[in-house]
Amino acid sequence: MPEKTDYRMTAEEFRRHGKAMVDWIADYYARIESFPVLSQAKPGQIRAALPKSAPEHGETFDSMMKDVESVILPGVTHWQSPNFFAYFPSNTSYPSILGELLSAGLDVQGMLWATSPACTELETHVLDWLVESLALPEKFKSSSAGGGVIQDTASSSSLCALLAARERATAYASNENGCDGRLVAYTSSQAHSSIEKAAMVAGIGRANLRLVPVDEKFAMRPEALAAAIQQDIAAGRVPFFVCATLGTTSSNGMDPLPAIGAICREQSIWLHVDGAMSGTAALCPEFCWIQDGLEFADSYTFNPHKWMFTNFDCNCFYVADRKALIHTLSILPEYLRNQATESGAVIDYRDWHIQLGRRFRALKLWFVIRHYGLEGLRFHIRRHIELAQKFASWVSEDSDFELAAPAPLNLVCFRHRGGDGINETIMSRLNKSGDLYLTHTKLRDRMTLRMCIGQTNTELRHVEQAWKRIREEANAAKKLSQSAR
Ligand SMILES: Cc1ncc(COP(=O)(O)O)c(C=O)c1O
Repeated sequence: MPEKTDYRMTAEEFRRHGKAMVDWIADYYARIESFPVLSQAKPGQIRAALPKSAPEHGETFDSMMKDVESVILPGVTHWQSPNFFAYFPSNTSYPSILGELLSAGLDVQGMLWATSPACTELETHVLDWLVESLALPEKFKSSSAGGGVIQDTASSSSLCALLAARERATAYASNENGCDGRLVAYTSSQAHSSIEKAAMVAGIGRANLRLVPVDEKFAMRPEALAAAIQQDIAAGRVPFFVCATLGTTSSNGMDPLPAIGAICREQSIWLHVDGAMSGTAALCPEFCWIQDGLEFADSYTFNPHKWMFTNFDCNCFYVADRKALIHTLSILPEYLRNQATESGAVIDYRDWHIQLGRRFRALKLWFVIRHYGLEGLRFHIRRHIELAQKFASWVSEDSDFELAAPAPLNLVCFRHRGGDGINETIMSRLNKSGDLYLTHTKLRDRMTLRMCIGQTNTELRHVEQAWKRIREEANAAKKLSQSAR
């Protein structure tokens, strides 16, 4: 055998395999309903099927795809199945997948405007589009004092908001000297765990994050927030950050922004709003009410990677005052200096988040918005909400079940009236069956099932079938518990 002098994949091979991969993905979507939605793999199963060491000699593309079928697919939970109703969705669409492919193909690293002007300018532009499309406050536009950036996740954005708030509250001294333990942050007892993590990472400390009680709709009680702030001020502490949520993870609770915003303004506290999944609903004018009061916010985040048909990861983060964010996160070593930056005429997104390097995520979001158009996005969001409302009506009409929380959008929290045990059995039997996947939470200490409708290809028949299966498993679980007595 002649000695190998080049190990790269040729352009011809890439063309052939690339086309085959696109076909594979289209076929995957065509057969996705034949897989159990929740992977039935046992711990260690996937690793046990993989060779102990990396191959010394390169392998063929076909052999890799064979292993994808036999080793990888059994270990995949099919988030893109139309029968996926768990957590919040992490949906995608063909234009998004193509945008992601293009981004991988160009593979630019857009840390500075100069390292790929299109990466920065398309991002700024698409985020400005979304300010208009979602009817967000003008102050989040790049033409104002604020602006938007795409980050990996809502968790990262909330951390950045907390850091900027920390610096603003301490006249940028905490970056120099660390925190002195007096700063206090607030969020509701129903807020996402990423806020607690942000308090840990930012050196605020968990003990200095107050979890404000909620009302019967699982929304933050503003009078409880005001009281907590007063108590902290009286104790010599410094309230500096409030995170309100539009669409809490457990129950889609909507914190009342106008009242919370007024408190924050009076006390000069940074208001961050986490609209993770639900923020996308504001594409439809009839659901814009969820962001009433957003004009009080210093920062806002939501995830196109949850409900806007754009594959993970893609999170939009807006600030009202970009200077505060940039001042907080900017460090300019000599090796990154360049004329464009010095001129002050460009955005360098490296200063808008934690890490330096950044992917060209705007491409896929741009592809999605251009493919669907705003009318197409609205059509499918409305469809999901309509399906969820239908499901909620079936639950409330069935005497065995009850709604556990209001269902303002596409998440329905419900439970069997028979108690925690029967709900646990229903969920575990459904998920084991592979027919659909749903997850749970605890509301007022009671086991609650969550049915979230947001996968791109979910239609009425999937939701009807899910309800049929839920009732079947409820009957089976009832019989099991009767025979055990
Ligand atoms: C309300 C809320 N905020 C934040 C997050 C975290 O999202 P990410 O994975 O983008 O950090 C979630 C995740 O479901 C969420 O529901």
